[in-house]
Amino acid sequence: MENTIMLNEKIYWVGKVDNRDVPFHRLTLTKGTTYNSYLLMTEKPTVIDTVDISFGREFVENLRKLIDLDKIKYIIINHTEPDHSGALGSLASKAKNAAIVCTKPAVEELKEMYKLHNREFIVVGDGDTLDIGGKTLKFIETPYLHTEETMVTYCEEDKILFPCDIFSTHIATNEYFNDLSKEDIKDDFIGYYKLIMHPHRRYVQDMIKKIKELDIKMIAPSHGFILRDNVESLINIYDYMSKNTDTQKKSLILHSTITGNTRKIANLLKENFEKQNIVSEVMDVNKAQMDEVMKAIDEADAVFFGTSTRYGDMIGNMEDILKALKGLTLEQKLGAAFGSYGWSGEAIEVMQDYLTETNFSVLNTSDIIKSTGMTNIELPLRIRFSPKEDNLKAIEDLVIYTSDLLLSRP
Ligand code: FEO
Repeated sequence: MENTIMLNEKIYWVGKVDNRDVPFHRLTLTKGTTYNSYLLMTEKPTVIDTVDISFGREFVENLRKLIDLDKIKYIIINHTEPDHSGALGSLASKAKNAAIVCTKPAVEELKEMYKLHNREFIVVGDGDTLDIGGKTLKFIETPYLHTEETMVTYCEEDKILFPCDIFSTHIATNEYFNDLSKEDIKDDFIGYYKLIMHPHRRYVQDMIKKIKELDIKMIAPSHGFILRDNVESLINIYDYMSKNTDTQKKSLILHSTITGNTRKIANLLKENFEKQNIVSEVMDVNKAQMDEVMKAIDEADAVFFGTSTRYGDMIGNMEDILKALKGLTLEQKLGAAFGSYGWSGEAIEVMQDYLTETNFSVLNTSDIIKSTGMTNIELPLRIRFSPKEDNLKAIEDLVIYTSDLLLSRP
């Protein structure tokens, strides 16, 4: 143990300070970081999150100095990324009596990552509680903050929130608590928010609504400083930044439809853009004059092109419009293709080909995965027949991604 750091008489910080230049999400964390793990020394001792896999053995040996590992009853995993779950394999092999507590989507990931197929898992969801003998832990799901399986854990008696990545800072601090920091951490706190959380800001708002019901005296995240000073104002920074979406940006959704299904997708896109406070217009290209369409494209910041497929090709005026766009200066505009189809939906792919020959910045799946980690959006957006319940999430996420890109541009 580097030090014995205590949040109170029963809760120990058992993490690792990583002073290296840490490679992270294609950046280098020049201030290093910490992997904060916590041991709750109750009648049913509980570990919340672990540390990066590089420090797994050291982590387990340090824990052993504080507790007989056989006595650990629960290991809570709030988030499965390996900088927090990395030592789970080492810990679980020694803490043989511990059940692993996590959300449903996390179970399969952890079983696969750490070969824990025969281990006891306790699946928890929104509002579930766990009695750990003298303390009660409450779990709140926070999907997409910043991956699907994430949750936060709240200790009711101590009023401490353990939110893993949320409310973190990437600083290799040996001061541990924000009130002990010699420097103002606000810029690092905001920088972390912008990098990791802001792409998921709608989910930040969902999280804020849920935690507003809790009385939080301390936030013990899994990177950087433990927050016990100005807690409310730090939460308000997340609230303010995730709501601050006032924008003059415009989206235009052009479509050409046979049965009306492509129009339904267009209308869903518009609804979602409006939820993001982005002005949105749906235009049927077969009911508008060419100059009207070109003027609307000129005024838009993002243009979605939708078509049905007939005999393997686009219908109506869509092809003429795409041909007219070739060679125009459009680099500042985002473009994307979508459509409903019944059999093969070739026209959506043909339209995508046309689009990539224009100067639009064409949205693509690879960029979405690399920048957000979301894997449920495939572009061009193809929906068989009418949009169904399971298409709604992908449409919503596509619009959130596009809106964030628009907002990040001058
Ligand atoms: Fe700190 Fe998402 O890992």
